[in-house]
Amino acid sequence: MHDPEALRSLHLSRFKAEPEIFAAPGRVNLIGEHTDYAEGFVMPAAIDFATLAAISPRTDGKIVIYSENFREEHIVEAAALPTEATQHWSDYPLGVIAILAGEGHRTTGFSLSLYGDVPLGSGLSSSAAIEVATALAVTSLLNVHYPGPQLARLCQRSENEFVRSSCGIMDQFISVNGEANHALLLDCRDLSFRLAPIPANVALVIANTMVKHSVAGGEYTSRRAEVEEAASVIARHRHEVRFLRDANVDDLKKWGSEMSPNALKRARHVITENSRTVAAADALIHHDLKELGRLMAEAHESYSKDFEASCAEADTMVMLANKLPGLIGARLTGGGFGGCTINLVEQEQAPKFAEALAGSYADATGIKPQIHICHASSGAHKVTASLSH
Ligand code: GLA
Repeated sequence: MHDPEALRSLHLSRFKAEPEIFAAPGRVNLIGEHTDYAEGFVMPAAIDFATLAAISPRTDGKIVIYSENFREEHIVEAAALPTEATQHWSDYPLGVIAILAGEGHRTTGFSLSLYGDVPLGSGLSSSAAIEVATALAVTSLLNVHYPGPQLARLCQRSENEFVRSSCGIMDQFISVNGEANHALLLDCRDLSFRLAPIPANVALVIANTMVKHSVAGGEYTSRRAEVEEAASVIARHRHEVRFLRDANVDDLKKWGSEMSPNALKRARHVITENSRTVAAADALIHHDLKELGRLMAEAHESYSKDFEASCAEADTMVMLANKLPGLIGARLTGGGFGGCTINLVEQEQAPKFAEALAGSYADATGIKPQIHICHASSGAHKVTASLSH
């Protein structure tokens, strides 16, 4: 697990300066997949995996970024920031720094040490955690304050405009605004949200299929294009429709034949997923765990069959979970094409569930999975205050 004290002493010995330290969590999405960029609904929770950022000012005009994960230092001139990504780990912090500079928040240089334990490429938003931790650290150094939703937008812009990955707002939003022991129903149209308490007797069991996923990869982008194609076909008939958020299944019956077969299927997923996500938040708020589980099962089916964003391993992981005692609901979480499943499990059954799932998945696929029993945790924050100096 991430240890702020260890990052502090690492930063201190490398840069000879006392840092301020910030933490930003990864996330797991309970339901609402590929709905965020269609201005729909998502219901993620922040988790207890995070990126830590330690920062201290410099006077030599340099920005020096050290990644403890990659054991590598990257140096740029504060006055000559890069304008595009280079497919290097430093793209994520540099993108945020460049976007902040574009907003008029330039610095005279700093040292930034990063360490994260969010598994990379697993659909748990390791990149959003890096962006948000960097954004908090740099804005704090500059004495600039952005309200949570704006900070999330800024990090999303860095990913869209600098890293050039076409993600929506979900990951950055929950990393900034997560609440301990709660999932968050987010309306991606106006960024209003409702907290849904996760009962103490429910565990979040995250099962990593070990199949790598990347939002920057082509499949995510082509799904998004199909979703947008479907919205534009409906908009030809109903001008008030701008995104699939505004559409309904009747629209698909009427005008689905004007879309490519793929766009029709993707749209059916997004439109039904929006309703499921709102219903799932109601079920969670009213302690109707049976209904929540049913909605998660339906969501996985839709994600796998209509959105075609699952993979054989994730389908197997979900199928095996469904056979185990204690399961409330299981589905593939995140951008798709690999990564992790989220399993809501009765707390007291969770350790046995995790062990049995790991065993049966290894038997079925020959792959040893990583299974984590997680808790919904709070969003990004400063941690220095809690360290003993
Ligand atoms: C990735 C993106 C998010 C969202 C999900 C799919 O995590 O970063 O914006 O689109 O995929 O729900």
